[in-house]
Amino acid sequence: MKKLIVLPLLLAVLVLPAHADNYSVPKNPAFEAECTSCHMAYPPQMLHADSWRALMNGLSKHFGSDASLDEKRRAAITDFLVANAGGRKTGTTRDAGSQPLLRITETARFEKKHREISAATFKRASIKSPANCTACHAQAATGNYSEHSVRIPK
Ligand code: HEC
Ligand code: HEC
Repeated sequence: MKKLIVLPLLLAVLVLPAHADNYSVPKNPAFEAECTSCHMAYPPQMLHADSWRALMNGLSKHFGSDASLDEKRRAAITDFLVANAGGRKTGTTRDAGSQPLLRITETARFEKKHREISAATFKRASIKSPANCTACHAQAATGNYSEHSVRIPK
């Protein structure tokens, strides 16, 4: 009798849609004020805590920009990023020399998901950079990077 009940249950679990990853950015006023003026709010979940610490320790030389903050704000935003940093799935986000990667776009996970997009596509005037997630992921602001809402602009 038992087997008859278990089998349909097992099938139901198998046919459920795979749980889509959600990358919505947890609310944090300091992060929103200081880290979204030059670019979109990158999800803390996409980098390992070590990467966020390294990035937040080098804000005066931030990808060619000066994004320095006073120590109080810097520490508060670092705590927020570390508390929400990526877990097991994100991996260590370190480079071959085992230094923490500072870019989401250099992580193995990003490269794997964007393998089919050429460097030339990323350089299109409508896109400019792989870091410009919203160019293709129109719903990135809500944490939705699903392949169903992706559109690569011409
Ligand atoms: C003064 C402008 C400015 C401010 C303020 C700023 N950034 Fe940036 N950030 C940049 C630029 C420029 C890049 C490089 C973008 C590119 O390569 O297209 C960048 C890139 C990044 C990247 C890497 C994106 C990738 O390639 O994966 C992360 C992560 C990041 N910023 C986080 C932050 C955080 C966290 C803060 C707040 C503490 C912040 N940024 C504040 C200008 C800024
Ligand atoms: C040139 C367009 C483009 C840019 C820019 C881009 N992506 Fe994507 N991304 C795609 C496409 C296309 C896919 C779907 C790949 C597939 O599964 O076929 C994708 C897939 C993904 C996925 C996997 C979604 C899933 O359901 O598995 C994530 C996460 C993601 N992108 C995050 C980002 C982030 C974060 C950025 C910015 C740092 C970014 N992408 C920039 C085009 C882009």
